[in-house]
Amino acid sequence: MTAKIVTFGISKGGCSKSTSSGITSYLLSKDERVLAIDMDGQGNLTSFLTGEYDICTVFEERTILEAIINGDARPYIIKINKNLDLIPANDFLATLPRKMFENHLKLDALQSALEPVMDDYDWIIIDTPPALSEQTVIPLSTYSEAGSYAVVMFDGSMFAYYAIPKFLEIIEGAKERYNPTLETAGILFSLIDARAKENEVMIEAVEEDYPNLKFDTIIKRKASTRRLAIEGFDGNSELRNALEYYVPFVKELKKRVSQKQPQGSN
Ligand SMILES: Nc1ncnc2c1ncn2[C@@H]1O[C@H](COP(=O)(O)OP(=O)(O)OP(=O)(O)O)[C@@H](O)[C@H]1O
Ligand SMILES: [Mg+2]
Repeated sequence: MTAKIVTFGISKGGCSKSTSSGITSYLLSKDERVLAIDMDGQGNLTSFLTGEYDICTVFEERTILEAIINGDARPYIIKINKNLDLIPANDFLATLPRKMFENHLKLDALQSALEPVMDDYDWIIIDTPPALSEQTVIPLSTYSEAGSYAVVMFDGSMFAYYAIPKFLEIIEGAKERYNPTLETAGILFSLIDARAKENEVMIEAVEEDYPNLKFDTIIKRKASTRRLAIEGFDGNSELRNALEYYVPFVKELKKRVSQKQPQGSN
C-alpha cells in the first residue's frame, strides 16, 4: 500500500496549520505509519514534533531542502516514535527557489525525492508556510496512487475567509497541471479566537460558499492544545484534553479520504 498525502495549507498566517498537521501526524501514528514533512522554513512542525527549537544548528543540512535538491528523501528522515518519522525544515528552506533553479528542478521535485519511500508509509502529512509559494505548490503537486489531499485551514477571520478561494484556486491549478490525484479533503475551522462573535456568521458563509467542504469538527481554542508546543506529547498529563477536538477531526479526515480515494487504490 502506498502512502496517502495530506497537505495542510492557507496563505493566511496563524490558522493552526503546524499545530493541526503535527497533531494529525501524531494521532494517525497510533495505528499507522506516518511521515510528517515540514515545508515551512519557520520549522514549527519540526519543533512541535521534536521539541527542538535550535533548528538551524541541530538540523543543519539535514532537512527537506537537501532531500529535494538531492532527489532522495531517505537520508533526511528522522525517527520521532515507533510509527512516526519526520523530515525537518529550517530557515535555509528560503533558498529553495534559487536552488531549484540552479539544479533545473521543477514542481515535481518532491515527488522524485519521495518515490523511494512512498510504500514505507500509510500517510505523508505536510505542513506548508503561510504563502502560495513553491513550498505550498510543490506538496500539492506531489502525486500518490492512494490519493493526494489538501486540508484548508481557516481561523474564522475575514483575512482567512478571503484566502480560502485563492488556496482552492492553487489546488485546482496543481490538480490540472501536475497532480490529477489531488482532492480538497475539506475546510477545517480552527477557532483560535473562540469568543469572537462573528464566528457563527463565518461558519454559515463557508457552508454556503463551499457546500460539503466544511469538516463537521470545529477545533476550538484550548490552552492545553497550545501548550503541546512546550510540553510535547509524551508523559503529558493533559494530553487527552489537548487532543479533544482533533480525535474526531482525524476520524472525519480518514472517512473523507476513503470516500475520495482513487478507484483501485485499495
Ligand atoms: N486549538 C488551539 N488552541 C489554542 N491555541 C492554538 C490552537 N491551535 C493553534 N494554536 C496556537 O495558535 C498559534 C498559531 O498556530 P500555528 O503556528 O499552528 O499556525 P500556523 O497556521 O502554522 O502559523 P503560520 O502561518 O505562521 O505557519 C500558535 O501559537 C499555536 O500554539
Ligand atoms: Mg505554521
